[in-house]
Amino acid sequence: MNIGVFASGRGSNFQAILDAIDRRVLTARVSLLVSNKSDAGALEIARTHAIPALHLSQKQFPDEQAFAAALLQRLREHEVQLIALAGYLKKIPTLVVREYKNRILNIHPALLPAFGGHGMYGHYVHEAVLASGAKLSGATVHLVDEEYDRGPILLQKAVPVERDDTPESLAARVLRVEHEIFPLALKAFTENKVLFNERSAWIQ
Ligand code: GRF
Repeated sequence: MNIGVFASGRGSNFQAILDAIDRRVLTARVSLLVSNKSDAGALEIARTHAIPALHLSQKQFPDEQAFAAALLQRLREHEVQLIALAGYLKKIPTLVVREYKNRILNIHPALLPAFGGHGMYGHYVHEAVLASGAKLSGATVHLVDEEYDRGPILLQKAVPVERDDTPESLAARVLRVEHEIFPLALKAFTENKVLFNERSAWIQ
């Protein structure tokens, strides 16, 4: 299966996907890496692995429609069948969500539906978890619809919140489970083991 990875940042989840492919845990190929940031670490990772990498941002286009059309064209050129949002901080254009319905997965660094939504990314998530007094956090892989962090949840793994945690220490603990569960969720897709309806998704 050809996976298109979208990433805005350093790309450690992208790297975890590549590692899972190398270890043959995941039988797939990353056929395209898309980043909205020209200086994203993920672009560099793609280049070192000779994976086609693209800096594409809505800012380069007059409107969302034009951006979506360009994105879809590139996805088709690279025969992308499944999209993995690995720390991608922008909303996916509606046209792309429709074209790839139930074939876009996102990793979120908390246990959704709590601590998600617009503006809930990076350290903001971990700060909110600590401020809430929650004793568990974790990572969530979910299917992407037209709202931030709202589509059906596919896979979650919890980690404890420790008394002396800082946003950084909690982020590091959560990141370890992100690297574990994102490749597993993609694997389930490649093996056709995902069942879903409008509200939820399960791995068979
Ligand atoms: C991860 O915490 C991911 O859950 C979130 O953004 C971060 C990206 O990290 N959506 P990386 O670029 O994969 O290292």
